[in-house]
Amino acid sequence: MRIFHSVCLPKYVFPVLSRWTGCYAAFLCLVLTLARAEDECPVSCVCSRDSGTVTCRDGEDSGEVPVDLPEWTSNLIIQGKNMSTLRRGVFVDNTTELEITTLCLSYNGIQTIEPYAFLGLSHLHLLDLSHNRLESISARALVGLPQLRSLYLNYSVLPEAVTQLSSALSSQTLANLYRLDLAGNRLKSIPLETFDSFNLHILVLVNNSFENVVRENVSGLYQQRHMRVYLALNPFRCNCDLEAFYYWLKNSSQCPDVGRLVCSEPENKRGALVERLRAEDVDCNLENLEAVSYVFLGIVLALIGVVFLMVLYLNRGGIKRWLNNIREACRDQMEIYHYRYEQDSDPRLANVAVRLSQTCPSSLPPRQVNDLIQPSASVRAESTCSSTGLSTSKLTTCPSQTAATVAATDSRGRFERGSGDQSECSPALCDYVHLKLLQHHSPSWLLHRGLPNFLSWSLMASPPTHNRSSRPEDDEDDPVDRMITRTGCSEQHYAVQECMAEHQDWRLCQKQVQTFKDCMSSFQRARKEQLQKQLSKDTQTSTS
Ligand SMILES: *[C@@H]1O[C@H](CO)[C@@H](O)[C@H](O)[C@H]1NC(C)=O
Ligand SMILES: *[C@@H]1O[C@H](CO)[C@@H](O)[C@H](O)[C@H]1NC(C)=O
Ligand SMILES: *[C@@H]1O[C@H](CO)[C@@H](O)[C@H](O)[C@H]1NC(C)=O
Ligand SMILES: *[C@@H]1O[C@H](CO)[C@@H](O)[C@H](O)[C@H]1NC(C)=O
Ligand SMILES: *[C@@H]1O[C@H](CO)[C@@H](O)[C@H](O)[C@H]1NC(C)=O
Ligand SMILES: *[C@@H]1O[C@H](CO)[C@@H](O)[C@H](O)[C@H]1NC(C)=O
Repeated sequence: MRIFHSVCLPKYVFPVLSRWTGCYAAFLCLVLTLARAEDECPVSCVCSRDSGTVTCRDGEDSGEVPVDLPEWTSNLIIQGKNMSTLRRGVFVDNTTELEITTLCLSYNGIQTIEPYAFLGLSHLHLLDLSHNRLESISARALVGLPQLRSLYLNYSVLPEAVTQLSSALSSQTLANLYRLDLAGNRLKSIPLETFDSFNLHILVLVNNSFENVVRENVSGLYQQRHMRVYLALNPFRCNCDLEAFYYWLKNSSQCPDVGRLVCSEPENKRGALVERLRAEDVDCNLENLEAVSYVFLGIVLALIGVVFLMVLYLNRGGIKRWLNNIREACRDQMEIYHYRYEQDSDPRLANVAVRLSQTCPSSLPPRQVNDLIQPSASVRAESTCSSTGLSTSKLTTCPSQTAATVAATDSRGRFERGSGDQSECSPALCDYVHLKLLQHHSPSWLLHRGLPNFLSWSLMASPPTHNRSSRPEDDEDDPVDRMITRTGCSEQHYAVQECMAEHQDWRLCQKQVQTFKDCMSSFQRARKEQLQKQLSKDTQTSTS
């Protein structure tokens, strides 16, 4: 060095001195040199020769690497300086090669590292660039560090410099790199293209933004059996993408802080340890299957819905009919019940004809009694029933001019009416009103549909409550059957019944009904005469 040479000048100035003197001078020189070198500590630095450490902190000489470092310097610590840029060859010494092995440049606010910035540090083992604000790193920034074993870049790399860092690290010049610290850099992926060009044993990725380690990188990790990767404090997303990484954690034991890896997503797994996840949590097949099955289920349900609607639409007529049928069936059921109830509770119904004749008093002309059972146009005439049951029953009958109206009142002021078209001014209409009125006095089931219908109705109603195949002798208990048997019209009655059994519709059996009705009429005529005779006999005996 310069100083050494100047100190050593006398050696050449006094060549005549004895050899001993020369040696002595040389020794003196050396001592002096050492003494001077010790003084040589750069301004605003602290030097410790014993440990070979030069520490420069917070100097007022802003931003520059001290130039004249002692040659014994092996550890150089520069901290708290404001050096935005590390220039090319900033550590190069023109005369001697520096033997620095440890270079600490943390907390210097370094933003840019130029190419070949660390030239001349071929003995460097450790480079600490942590806690800077690196925005720009040249791809050749780390050239010339063949001995480098540890590189600290924690809390230092800004997101915009990550890709540049990746190429700087991959420049094939860090063959001995053993430890790489990249903590706290908001990294989402490993900024290394390959692990092969290093001797990496420790990779610190703590406190970054890793949500996953992709399958590709995991297979790289499997090949670096000796490597340990620290991954705590990363926000892992514990879905099925994690599968490869999950198995690597389980199988390889390359992650020493595996017990501190925690899921931060999804919501339901937040805070769960990654290593404690179940295999099915990270099984993509299962997850896909689940999704597929839900979609499939949805489609099937939608199809069923559409088919159902279509069936409804196409079958709207049928459904309407079906609903009507149900309603009919219900009504029929009710009627049957009604009928059975009346029949069971009122044994007097055993003989309808007799009962009706008793409803009207003796003063009622028998013809009218008959008319109640066997209605005819003659009912149109005004008639009076002047005693207990139907006293002063008044019947106004059709035809009127415009429409057929039949109205009737009885002595108690009960009023009933029925109306229809003029063409409907039939005996049936008269029957209907008349019988409605009569309903107040006689069993209501009689009047349910008017008398003509009643016949068919009662025939229709009785089979379900009795064995349809039964013969008259089996039906001894049925009052209707008993009545009909007594009239001598049972044959016609069964004809109707059979027809009904076949068609289930009394309208299709009108011929049979008519025959039956005729038979009944003739029976009733006979019965009427008999009643009349009996009446006159009764009056004779009562007056006498
Ligand atoms: C650092 O240096 C830059 C200029 O190089 C200057 O703008 C900045 O204020 C300095 N910061 C500090 C903390 O000294
Ligand atoms: C080192 O040498 C270069 C030329 O090679 C020169 O420009 C520079 O000033 C020298 N530095 C010192 C500190 O002597
Ligand atoms: C970061 O760098 C410092 C050195 O400056 C080191 O001591 C520390 O262990 C590194 N790692 C973390 C995670 O802070
Ligand atoms: C993680 O890094 C952020 C900055 O990236 C820092 O603020 C935080 O303190 C770090 N957390 C831990 C536990 O080191
Ligand atoms: C990590 O994966 C990325 C792709 O996602 C790839 O570009 C990169 O080379 C991989 N790095 C290592 C070290 O496997
Ligand atoms: C990891 O271990 C599981 C069982 O624990 C095994 O099924 C899987 O094949 C292993 N993966 C590798 C890559 O060794």
